[in-house]
Amino acid sequence: KQVGIIGFPTNLGQPNSGVQMGPRAIRRSGLFESIEAMGIELVDYGDMRVTEVFPDPPKFGLRHPRTHAENAMNISQSLQVALNHQGKENILFCIGGDHSVSLGTVHGHAQVNKDMVLLWIDAHADCNTCLTSGSGNVHGMPLSFLINELQEFVPRMEEFDELRPCISFKDIAFIGLRDIDPGERYLLEKFGVTYYGMQEVDHLGIQEVVRRSLQEVNPGFKRPIHLSFDIDSLDPGFAKCTGTPVPAGLTLREGLYIAEEVHRTGCLKVVDLVEVNPDLGDPAQSEVTVNAAKEVIRACFGWQRAGIVPSNYQIP
Ligand code: ARG
Ligand code: MN
Ligand code: MN
Repeated sequence: KQVGIIGFPTNLGQPNSGVQMGPRAIRRSGLFESIEAMGIELVDYGDMRVTEVFPDPPKFGLRHPRTHAENAMNISQSLQVALNHQGKENILFCIGGDHSVSLGTVHGHAQVNKDMVLLWIDAHADCNTCLTSGSGNVHGMPLSFLINELQEFVPRMEEFDELRPCISFKDIAFIGLRDIDPGERYLLEKFGVTYYGMQEVDHLGIQEVVRRSLQEVNPGFKRPIHLSFDIDSLDPGFAKCTGTPVPAGLTLREGLYIAEEVHRTGCLKVVDLVEVNPDLGDPAQSEVTVNAAKEVIRACFGWQRAGIVPSNYQIP
């Protein structure tokens, strides 16, 4: 078994500097050692070069349009190259950067696996259009470019012409939402989208939420899964160091449970881990946040809280 790794050190999808240090912080967290200790081979594709285009004035309120369009296409390309390079049964791990990276990763994944489904674990729905966004920050908009049904609400920007939409609302499940903008809520209701916010997590329990999410988007576990995990889905007690923390989020146990269950389907192909900003908060909080990210990620690759027997283990 193999895991491929690519870093996408973006930060212009939101206003805080520091989130571009996410890949470095996660690379230093001991994650790789812990994956290798499981007997999994790592293939590190390094960090993609992120570009900043000048000049790049806002369009329809969207900040850095040319920069985002270009980076997203490059991310999509890198992802396609990596996915075609590694074996079909392997998993690719994408480290952000802010959540604008998923504009590229989901696009790239969908070019390779046309029937992929998407699990979006986040405090936010990230489906603002540039017109519904209050902030103009692209990390709150990636899904508006990717979802077929939303194209009638997104004004044409020639920069984004190549980024064709590639997924339907019915192939996405959201978990952890608790800070949804009015336009986003309108669109989620209008299209009858599957979403399990924190209220549903409290009402049903995480076990039922994960079971239903998988059942609804991937009955029979036949389709490749893309897991896009925004660290701000976790409660700030576990993940303070992120640009847009929201109180009353998932516990680390709930985050681990999601990752363990997704791993268990055997369908996981791509994981994004985004929005870790090691420069925010104090060093202790930064360590807690990075460690939470590490634990969720290794659970995606099969680490179990009950302990595991590495594939290369020999009893002494
Ligand atoms: N909904 C807010 C916005 O559009 C916050 C988005 C936060 N997104 C994120 N990936 N952390 O600006
Ligand atoms: Mn978020
Ligand atoms: Mn997000």
